[in-house]
Amino acid sequence: MPTTLEVKTPRLVTALPGPRAQQVIAADAKFMSPSLTREYALVAKKGHGAIVEDVDGNSFLDFAAGIAVCSTGHCHPKVVEAIQKQAAELIHISGTDFYHHHLPQLAERLVATMPGKEAKKVFFGNSGTEAVEGAIKLARYATKRDKLVAFYGCFHGRTLGSLSLTASKNTQRKGFGALLGGVEHIPFPYAYRCPHGHTAETCGTEILELLEQQMFKRLFAPDEIAAIIIEPIQGEGGFIPAPTFFLQELQRICNRHGIMLIVDEVQSGVGRTGKWWAYEHAGIEPDIVCIAKGIASGMPLSAFVAKESVMTWGRGSHGTTYGGNPVCIASAVATLELIEQRYLENARKMGDYIFGRIHDWPKHFKIVGDVRGKGLMIGTEIVRDQKTKEKAVDLRDAVVNKAFYKGLLTLSAGENTIRMSPPLLIDEEQADFAIRTMEECFREVEKTI
Ligand SMILES: Cc1ncc(COP(=O)(O)O)c(C=O)c1O
Repeated sequence: MPTTLEVKTPRLVTALPGPRAQQVIAADAKFMSPSLTREYALVAKKGHGAIVEDVDGNSFLDFAAGIAVCSTGHCHPKVVEAIQKQAAELIHISGTDFYHHHLPQLAERLVATMPGKEAKKVFFGNSGTEAVEGAIKLARYATKRDKLVAFYGCFHGRTLGSLSLTASKNTQRKGFGALLGGVEHIPFPYAYRCPHGHTAETCGTEILELLEQQMFKRLFAPDEIAAIIIEPIQGEGGFIPAPTFFLQELQRICNRHGIMLIVDEVQSGVGRTGKWWAYEHAGIEPDIVCIAKGIASGMPLSAFVAKESVMTWGRGSHGTTYGGNPVCIASAVATLELIEQRYLENARKMGDYIFGRIHDWPKHFKIVGDVRGKGLMIGTEIVRDQKTKEKAVDLRDAVVNKAFYKGLLTLSAGENTIRMSPPLLIDEEQADFAIRTMEECFREVEKTI
């Protein structure tokens, strides 16, 4: 029987969930926080490349990548080697109090991936939400203002500061009381459901008008606003790309009023869209960029990168015990090297290949309303009826579940979208399997309606 290292597509050897998986799920129900949102019964044991093996020996093709984290795949030998070497040398020192050669090495490398005229500086943390918290603090500190503007549908994290910006699902906020004051949300340019009938290129004109003509005049004077924060492609919100003109206009508005433009690249960054950063597709230069997930292939690391003229806060203003841990940084250095050498180009190439094959899904499958995204950030919106665009949450869940039982791991996003965010190393055989499997699932689900 081939080992996990040898298989490239799924191999299911038990009914799902298998007997060992069932034991783990029972123990989990007893001891783990019920707030976790497991979509189906995957009980992972090991992984290699784009394959995950469960505790019963079933292999799955992973088009979720641990929520877009395992950028270089599972346990890439070069990443494992870097982690092992660093773990044997030094596990922790705290970059807040002491120096470590890996910190400026990775910071320099990260900054080199970001086009733009201005020099930049980096702060390392542990998670996406921490990067956003730090960005909020830095924007307030740098501008001496406290108001923040975010977008409906956005997800920026679950700690109280970032949660104040998050406006994805009300369950994420419900029950937690008052959040940060001085935060307002405006609509995100969502072309498929554009109330003004715009295209994916032009959707959002009216939102910018709302910002300037309503919000700036009636709610927050622009010189009170510290930052506007946006995901260039909404992740949890449903893999919705912001149009190029929208990001460019937002940048111009921010520049005009001295507002920090914070771009949250936690999900869309590190090569996933075929460029290092999704904002690059729009040719903008944000003031602060939030990064996490794919940066260290699964080790907990995040960063926010700011223009040097913005990151001028004083000694002791911000710090962390673990952020920039040497083992995580070593993993990130290896990750960036692999992405630069091979996977950035592969993400672009495989993204083109997949979109080339699936862009006309709405013509072939009546439950597919929209196919969108960039590179290997692939969203498929499921509807009950293409004309009314009624959101079909149950049908979307059925597709995600059926895919699991056929050995393909995907995730839901937004109210009724399926997201595929595979590791950046997938090949055509794996893309073909995923496409074929999704098509089978669509056909089977369509028979039920
Ligand atoms: C765009 C975006 N920002 C922030 C976060 C929060 O990251 P974390 O879960 O690592 O705190 C996420 C997580 O999904 C995200 O997608």
